[in-house]
Formats: sequence, C-alpha cells, structure tokens
Amino acid sequence: MQNVTVTKARDSFTTGLGVIAATLGSAVGLGNIWKFPALTGLNGGAAFIIVYLLSTLMAGLVVMVAELMLGRRSKSDALTTFKVLHPKNESWALIGAAGVLSAFLILAFYTEVAGWVFAYIFKAASGAVLSSDPKVTSAGFEKLITDPVQSVFWQCLVLVFVGAIIVAGVSKGIEKTTKRLMPVLFLILVMIGVRSLMLPGAAAGLEFLFRPDFSKVTGGVVLTAMGLAFFKLSVGMGTMITYGSYFRDDQNVPMTALRVMLADLTVSILAGIAIFPAVFTYGFKPEAGPSLLFITIPAVFSQMPFGNIFVVLFFVLGAIAATGAMLSILEVPVAYLHQRFGMSRLKSTALTVILLALIGSTAALSNSTMANFKFFGMTMFDFYDFLTSNVLMPVGGLFICIFVGWVWGEEKVRAALSNDGQLQNGPIISIFLFLVKYVAPITITVILLRGLKII
Ligand code: PHE
Repeated sequence: MQNVTVTKARDSFTTGLGVIAATLGSAVGLGNIWKFPALTGLNGGAAFIIVYLLSTLMAGLVVMVAELMLGRRSKSDALTTFKVLHPKNESWALIGAAGVLSAFLILAFYTEVAGWVFAYIFKAASGAVLSSDPKVTSAGFEKLITDPVQSVFWQCLVLVFVGAIIVAGVSKGIEKTTKRLMPVLFLILVMIGVRSLMLPGAAAGLEFLFRPDFSKVTGGVVLTAMGLAFFKLSVGMGTMITYGSYFRDDQNVPMTALRVMLADLTVSILAGIAIFPAVFTYGFKPEAGPSLLFITIPAVFSQMPFGNIFVVLFFVLGAIAATGAMLSILEVPVAYLHQRFGMSRLKSTALTVILLALIGSTAALSNSTMANFKFFGMTMFDFYDFLTSNVLMPVGGLFICIFVGWVWGEEKVRAALSNDGQLQNGPIISIFLFLVKYVAPITITVILLRGLKII
C-alpha cells in the first residue's frame, strides 16, 4: 500500500479582501475612537496629529512592513518566527516573548474599556446615560466604573465574546467576522460625521482639529504620539507577525501595509470630525481626555435632533472597532500556545481567556476596590496602558528593526518583499531598507530616551 502522509494545512486568510479586512480590523479600534480624539484634544490638536503622522511614517509603518514580512516567511507565531528565521541565536525570540506578554497587558485594560463601550450600547438605548447636563452623564459613567461587579462583569462578557470568535479559527472566525463588520463600521462613521458637520459649531471643531498649536508639544507628548502610532498600527508586539503568517504568498506586503495605514488614518480623522464639531457646538472643552467618549459624547449628542439614535450608533461603532482589534491581540498568545504546545484552539483560547480575566480584573477594579493600589504613581489600568504603548511596543519595534535591518540581512528582505522576484518593487524595497536600518531605529531610540527623561 502506498504511504500517504497527510499534513493538516495551517489555517489562514483565504482572500485578498479578507487579508485587508482582518488587518484593518486589527488597526482600527478604540485607538481611533477613544485614544486618538482624547489625546488630540489634550495635546494641542493638529500639532499632535502632525507629530503622530511623522512617527507613523518614520517608525510605525516601517515596523508594520517588517512584521508582516517576517510572519509570512516563517508561517509561525510571534515567538517561533524568530527561532525559524534565525535558528543560530535563539535570544531573538525574546522579542516574541515580550510580544506575548504585551498582548496580555494590553488586553487587560483594553477589554475593560471595550466593556464600558458594550455596556453603553444598552445604557444609551434605554436612555439611562443620556442627558444634556454633563454632570448627569458624568455621574452615570462614574457609577459604572466604580461598581466592581459591573466592571468585572462587562469585561468578562467581552472576553467570552471575543474568545468565541477566536475559537472558530482564522478564516472562519477572524476573517469572516471582520469582513462583515468593517463595511458597517465605515457606514456608521460617515453617517455620524456628516451629521456632526451639519452642526453650527462645525467650523470651530474643524479648526481645532486642523490648526496646529505647537506650544503644547513637549518630549513627553512626542513619546505619547509615537506610542499612539505603534498602538494604532498594532505593531511592536507580534500581532502583525502573527497576522502576516496567515497572509498568502502572493500578497503584496508593503502595499497592504500602506493601504491599512491610510485607511486607519482616515478612520481616526473621521472620528475626530464626528466628535469635535459636536463638542464645540454645545460648548464643551476638547480636553476632556479619556472620558470624552463616555461623558461628553452622550451629553453632546443628546442635544441634537435624533441624538439618542446617534449615541447608540456611536457605541455600536466603538464595539465593532474594538472587536476587530481584540481578536488580533488575543490571537497572539492563542497562536503561540497552539503551535508551540500543540494545544487545540479551544484549549489555548480558554486558557488565555481565564488568565486574562484574572489579570484584567486588576484593571477593571482600578476605579473601585483597587483605586489606591498604585504602581509608579499610576493605577494598574493606567500602568498597563503606559507600559505597553510608551515602552514595550516602541522597544519591541526597535528590536524588530534591528533584527530585520542588521541581522536577517538585505538579501532576504529583498526576496521576501518582492515575493521571490514576482513583484517589481525594487525602489520601494530600497526605501524600506534605508528606513528600517537607520531612520526608524534612531527615531525610536531618541524619542524613547527623551520621552522617558533619560537624556
Ligand atoms: N490598533 C488597535 C487600536 O487602535 C489596538 C491594538 C494594539 C491592536 C496592539 C492590536 C495590537 O485600537
């Protein structure tokens, strides 16, 4: 009898559209709807956006191309990728290990904010959090975040929801979900944006968004902008390595990264256009920070005709955005456990979700039971956010650049990015090589050292 070996094919994205939907689904998230408007409002409007854009071009996008390329070559999870591509020195796998750790820390606070967003869909639909008086909306938000039971409940609900999609797999879970949700997200965003632009304060809102005030830009603000660039593009912690490993071999990696970056930026700007005109029309301050979404939005929107419908839509939008991003973060440890220990997807997801519920509860309880538990002067929630965006992701990105530019080598990069000679994109690769070897590592190092006040 003939000897037949059946190797089970690795699950992956099946279509070009699916690749874009999943990758964009990862990039677009609470970063666009919650962080981007809040940080722009706090740090000088357009000046912050310019610094953010420069960091995206000089560092974030470069790391994104590098990660997708490595993952697609190794067809492995974030940690194993480095062992496969550079078996001589296994310490490079520490980048992947740090990535798996970052995934846990990001999800610890991310699922909490997502929990608030999910809760607000119901609260807004029932009218419970709607009022033109910010004191009322602020009391409503306080009530939610200072209630330990509700905080933990919504976080766990989100974890189970995202976990269930992950268990379904890469093509049937992640790809299918994001392909359906991304168009809905764009539609809702454009609807709210158009509605907001029709308000009398639109001009003031747009001016704030587009006129730079450089007096607010300090070393710390530059680091925050670069941290946001990493966070937004989901880079520096292995998500894009993991997703790259599900890319098809004929996918054009640099073009995919560029498209995703531009679409993600469009969503951020649209979110700004949806929020700031409304904020200015009803006399609110743009510097509300993280609470902008939960306190200002319900107060602002409840004042305009059909506002209650738009508030519900707004939080549905937030929930959709958060879901695509959470899927991609959760996939990092799940893919690792699955590949490294041969665990089933169900087992590796269950294990990750349980661990996350434990770590995450320290963030969920940051405003109640554990409010006085501070680390470096920050609550656990703020600490996880700061540590991942402003330290772990930029440092991870830095080492990925060094690995690609100086260790893996030019020849392999050229082969990988041209799909082994199938694509004629020599000049683009040359630009990438220059950026990954010099520009990105220097930019990241300087901003990190200045931002953390080391130099
Ligand atoms: N990019 C996502 C957002 O903007 C967050 C994210 C970070 C996703 C890291 C994956 C990895 O919300």
